[in-house]
Amino acid sequence: MTTSKRPTTEETRIHRLENILERLDIEKLFPKAQPVEVELGAGDGSFLVQYAERHPDRNFVGLERLLGRLRKIDRKSRRAGLVNVLLIRLEAAYFLEFLLPPVSIDALHIYFPDPWPKRKHRKNRLIDARFTGLAAAALKPAGLVYLRTDDMDYFQQMTEVFSTASQFCLTETPAELSEVMTDFERNFHARGISTLRAAYQLRESAQGSPVGAKT
Ligand SMILES: C[S@@+](CC[C@H](N)C(=O)[O-])C[C@H]1O[C@@H](n2cnc3c(N)ncnc32)[C@H](O)[C@@H]1O
Repeated sequence: MTTSKRPTTEETRIHRLENILERLDIEKLFPKAQPVEVELGAGDGSFLVQYAERHPDRNFVGLERLLGRLRKIDRKSRRAGLVNVLLIRLEAAYFLEFLLPPVSIDALHIYFPDPWPKRKHRKNRLIDARFTGLAAAALKPAGLVYLRTDDMDYFQQMTEVFSTASQFCLTETPAELSEVMTDFERNFHARGISTLRAAYQLRESAQGSPVGAKT
């Protein structure tokens, strides 16, 4: 007979939004008030679950638009007994702009977002010049944005928009974060495809972007 290290959490970690017109009161959605990190496009949760297990002292919101994937993360989170994970099914940009309160989160993780490689589809990319304003509005002072992709063209776009956004400065991805790989990342590495990463920090004086300040 096998015994699990921690009790399974019976309650679903998927949060049903009763209202998408009002901002969330994030602290109330977790058992403990502690720093909040958000992963946009969490996929099957390979990063989110591992990282949340390593950091019980932080709360994590996983955003994903596909319900099947969200359910997979839910099963993994419950099996791991994680009460510091909350899952929401919504479009990432809408969540960032309209549901997250201003100055409410400590870090944003965006790993292998859909690259939309065809030129005419690039307008669908999540990370563009407008995104930096939304991220700046949601982050607390000195908040962090962590990015990973395998797509060189998208990486150039990401680094260009963040390096020209005056609210952010380039920083390092900590080693303890780098070593937590997503399934996509492991798969690329197994096929000999290298991946790219970057991290940006919100300047202390950069709060209150007009984009995210809407109510
Ligand atoms: C290529 S996968 C990467 C998943 C995960 N981050 C990883 O590295 O393993 C991109 C994920 O983002 C989700 N996604 C794409 N665009 C999204 C959006 N606008 N809002 C929410 N989720 C999105 C997709 O459904 C998919 O699960």
